[in-house]
Amino acid sequence: MARFRTLDDLGDDLGDVRGKVALVRVDLNVPMHDGRATDLTRIHAVAPTILELADAGAKVLLLAHFGRPKGERHSTLSLSLVQGDVERVLGREVMYISEIAGPIVAQALQIMRPGDIGLLENTRFWPGEESNDPELARAIAANGDFYVDDAFSAAHRAHASTEGLAHLLPAYAGRAMERELNALEAALGSPERPVAAVVGGAKVSTKLAVLEHLVGKVQHLIIGGGMANTFLAARGVDVGKSLCEHDLVGTVEAIMDAADNAGCTVHLPYDVVVAKEFAPNPPSVRTCNVHDVVADEMILDVGPQATEALADVLKTCRTLVWNGPLGAFETPPFEAATVALARTAAALTKEGSLVSVAGGGDTVAALHQAGVAGDFTYVSTAGGAFLEWMEGKQLPGVAALAN
Ligand code: 3PG
Repeated sequence: MARFRTLDDLGDDLGDVRGKVALVRVDLNVPMHDGRATDLTRIHAVAPTILELADAGAKVLLLAHFGRPKGERHSTLSLSLVQGDVERVLGREVMYISEIAGPIVAQALQIMRPGDIGLLENTRFWPGEESNDPELARAIAANGDFYVDDAFSAAHRAHASTEGLAHLLPAYAGRAMERELNALEAALGSPERPVAAVVGGAKVSTKLAVLEHLVGKVQHLIIGGGMANTFLAARGVDVGKSLCEHDLVGTVEAIMDAADNAGCTVHLPYDVVVAKEFAPNPPSVRTCNVHDVVADEMILDVGPQATEALADVLKTCRTLVWNGPLGAFETPPFEAATVALARTAAALTKEGSLVSVAGGGDTVAALHQAGVAGDFTYVSTAGGAFLEWMEGKQLPGVAALAN
């Protein structure tokens, strides 16, 4: 990974930042209910960067998107709705500014004192944001002295506030971005081997590029969730009425061949938890060998023996990257394999024998359910950006920060 500049370089580059204007891209795309954010994780993640800059005397202007308003103002997607939550997390007053560029922002800056924090409006109210319009980027940059990107979860978008600005002002990674990039580098950039990847989730089709990239990178590829059924079908297993993308059997065979050639072992379950209906604790639930699934049953979790074998695999590994649950973890009892393997990974991490990095909405929820999210080396709340990183893609927001 190319080197990127961080807040530690600010002093050398710009001298004292007191009174200078920091344009700080954060991700405030938080779930809302009744006018309040229901999950403050993303605000907590960017608080250290904001407070560090404010405490150094910079005038901090926060730039963020909120939902997908597609270039138009929508009162329900105004960042003024998040202002109170940002204030509560920061423990500071935050001035809401109804524009992202132009004289209104300039006037607000006249009023702001060093150390004050302003929250600009939803960048996606302007069509030029998503089209990465250089005019818009220049107009935003005109009010700032330097740019800080602390929004890894939006770095897969080449937008004016995530990419364009980084070329117009001295650009730095914020503390959250820095931690995220370092963790991802340790997980797949230059990891300690052997490396295991857990890839789960419903469909192979949504993670084809991830699988194709990982077989050349990791020594153990653990497949879980509905997508394991397509792999099992490719190995000639009759998966009954399980979710299975039969049209992708040929693609999956090619992935398994590529894995073989690269010295990557693909782990599929050999015992499974099945049921005739998908409901909490259905009466038909049972555990069986994959070859004993009958026509009206569906596979809903990895079985206990295979889970134990996977735990043994993790014990031989130094690095783990995890995206996607092993089973239908939101519906009991189909969370068992995910919870058990997550606990093993957490214990190995605590012991110091494993670097564990996990990401993606479902994965984070599953780790919380297992009570171990805090025990992984790093848990990314990024969705699309994490997946694109697992695909080996260059993220435009990250590339723009590289020297
Ligand atoms: C996210 O919620 O994953 C990020 O904020 C990116 O949002 P987007 O998918 O609307 O670009």
